[in-house]
Amino acid sequence: MHTIRLAGGPAFPCADGDTILRAGLREGLGLSYECSVGSCGVCKFELVDGAVEDLRPDAPGLSERDRRKGRRLACQSRPAGDCTVAMRLDDAIRPPVRPQRRSAVLEAARRLTHDLSEFTFRTDGAADFLPGQYALLQLPGLAAPRAYSMANTPNGEGVWQFIVRRVPDGAGTAALFAMAAGARVSLDAPYGQAYLRPSPRDVVCVAGGSGLAPMLSIARAFAEGPADGRRLTLYYGARAARDVCGEAEVAALPGFGTRIRYVPAVSDPEDGGFAGRRGFIHEVMADDLGRCFDGCDVYCAGPPPMTLALEDLLVREAGLPVDRLRFDRFF
Ligand code: FES
Repeated sequence: MHTIRLAGGPAFPCADGDTILRAGLREGLGLSYECSVGSCGVCKFELVDGAVEDLRPDAPGLSERDRRKGRRLACQSRPAGDCTVAMRLDDAIRPPVRPQRRSAVLEAARRLTHDLSEFTFRTDGAADFLPGQYALLQLPGLAAPRAYSMANTPNGEGVWQFIVRRVPDGAGTAALFAMAAGARVSLDAPYGQAYLRPSPRDVVCVAGGSGLAPMLSIARAFAEGPADGRRLTLYYGARAARDVCGEAEVAALPGFGTRIRYVPAVSDPEDGGFAGRRGFIHEVMADDLGRCFDGCDVYCAGPPPMTLALEDLLVREAGLPVDRLRFDRFF
């Protein structure tokens, strides 16, 4: 166990093997982060005193300039002893649920499309998270954990469902797709800032690929909530007809067809097997809403080009306040 002291702030314990970010979040501290896997760069800090092991020296979250200036990533820094770090603390972003490590058993895998599958794990104790958050799974044979968003809603039975895309040559998905029912993993959760917040506005979810998982979790939580006149639409962008996914799950929700809608679109103009809408999903969503976003909060998860295009359209072009578009940056 090491002690991490925030320069000008509190100190907190960091268990052997834990990262500075995860240890701080376990203590309920408001540390800035999004991806937890070294990609977004939001968790940068400066080491004032002590030594840390860098778990991902080539992490894309740090620029060359950051490295020259000695900046590090809290999500990729494992202390080698007691440390003092300079890092911003913000009470407004304290974790609503403190992350914990658990042992999880794979109960079932279900194929959804040619490359997307749903994996159901179970832990002892409750599955405690907010809709839209993710877990870090330590998979067999891999050095670093992988981040996967929950597709179900929090529950007392300890059920965690993930929708994962099999990435060609991806070590993480190869390990996960090779697992048999009964296999155990370490599941560390919950993480993420793009969780469903209380609001008087309608909810718009935009998903692509395995980004369906957190948007489905949000849609499911919305369906469990009161019918208070608000509406939710889940827009799903796919490249081709065979990639379209999620309709059956959304259609099974109470309120589907009245206060909950599902709108898929296919972007490949060459794909002739789809009778629905065509084009990039952010454009389909904008047209569907008449390019008026005043009355909605937007949640998004999917490939980086989709997320960036949505951010451009909503925040830079339409002037949507930044806190009304929520997504965790995994790039
Ligand atoms: Fe550390 Fe994203 S949270 S790089």
